[in-house]
Amino acid sequence: MPNIVIAGAQWGDEGKGKIVDLLAARVQVVARYNGGHNAGHTVILGDRKFVLHLVPSGILHPGVLCVMGNGMVIDPWALEQELGELVAAGIEVDDNLVISDRAHLILPHHRVLEQLSEEARGARKIGTTNRGIGPAYEDKTGRRGVRMGDLLRPAALPGKLEETRRHFERVCRGAGHAPDADWEALARDLAAFGERLGPRIQDTALVLHRTIARGYSILFEGAQATLLDLDHGTYPFVTSSSAGAGGVATGLGIPPTRIDGILGIAKAYTTRVGAGPLPSEIGGSLEQEIRRRGAEFGASTGRPRRCGWFDAVVTRYSVRVNGFDAVALTKLDVLDLLAEVQICVGYRHDGRVIEEVPADLAVAEACEPVYESLPGWTTPTAGIREWSALPGAARRYVLRLSELIGCEVGMVSTSPDREDTILRRDSVVASWFA
Ligand code: IMP
Repeated sequence: MPNIVIAGAQWGDEGKGKIVDLLAARVQVVARYNGGHNAGHTVILGDRKFVLHLVPSGILHPGVLCVMGNGMVIDPWALEQELGELVAAGIEVDDNLVISDRAHLILPHHRVLEQLSEEARGARKIGTTNRGIGPAYEDKTGRRGVRMGDLLRPAALPGKLEETRRHFERVCRGAGHAPDADWEALARDLAAFGERLGPRIQDTALVLHRTIARGYSILFEGAQATLLDLDHGTYPFVTSSSAGAGGVATGLGIPPTRIDGILGIAKAYTTRVGAGPLPSEIGGSLEQEIRRRGAEFGASTGRPRRCGWFDAVVTRYSVRVNGFDAVALTKLDVLDLLAEVQICVGYRHDGRVIEEVPADLAVAEACEPVYESLPGWTTPTAGIREWSALPGAARRYVLRLSELIGCEVGMVSTSPDREDTILRRDSVVASWFA
């Protein structure tokens, strides 16, 4: 298989875990390029459910090398817990997992900084996952971060912690908060992590370069999604990393010329967790019904997700900024029983209809959705694996979405199960499988 990127097209939780897991059977390497344990990738295998936060979804395939890239931020406590759970579930975690020596660490004081920052924002808070993601990336760009490779040099750790400690104490003083932290104990804990994780911590850009030279193929796994991307998302209601396909190059040290294809993952409707604009938000009992049918509760935090109709403006924008070759449409079955389905095709603002995602938050928040209505299919599609077996109205819905976003829908997922996936034979995705 060629080297393919999997990236979210909306606000996350599109079902990337399932699609990565499906494609992982075809590659030798799965490499994650951004985010931390704010992500929750759910993979269902038969009657077993795995929720992966940090480890690439390829870990469920024996023989696949999993790479956690330099673009990630890693809480070593969360990592060890996840590895322990995988091992307890009988999953092999051996030399099939390597971690970039350049990935930054999330440390306990990052969560304190995040709480202070969210409190200070009051009503304008981001609604983060409270995992320390933002402050860890702030330390990275502020050039005071501690990296995975530092765990391997315990004698240098107290010095490496110095800048982040000073920053933490400055912020705490400003907020009138006691800067409680035991930095000596932290340095000791980190050194112990270094001993346990040591052999996994490597120059993963070099590892990837060598695997490509050997002719292996790589799946690049993104976490979160384009509308949560620090640059291209609904700023400031975004995460702090490059979640779009552009993040592959910086987050893994992969030259863009080595990327052969990009698959966007979009849900048949839209969801969002946390605050920020969601123009096609449904509201009322129908939203509750879709949330229930789609089990739309955060895989990491358990928070109820806000649900909206498919937003073609947002997804078309994603197609453009990521350069998707195709889209995999997930959770079509959640809409099965609706008599009518809506698609957001534009936004009404200030007496005009706009068809692009506005950069200005105030405009995005004031937008009213413009809908196109299509008849529902009111027939179960759950478990369907052939395009021709879908009800005509469901096929028309998918084809209309494809037309509106300007990108083919090459795969359709009809249940959380790995096997319940339609691969459209005439699509570019099928050529990747060939
Ligand atoms: P953070 O990534 O914890 O800083 O949170 C920033 C925003 O991104 C919040 O709105 C979160 O709810 C959202 N977010 C972060 N990770 C995910 C995810 O994996 N799925 C969906 N939303 C996410």
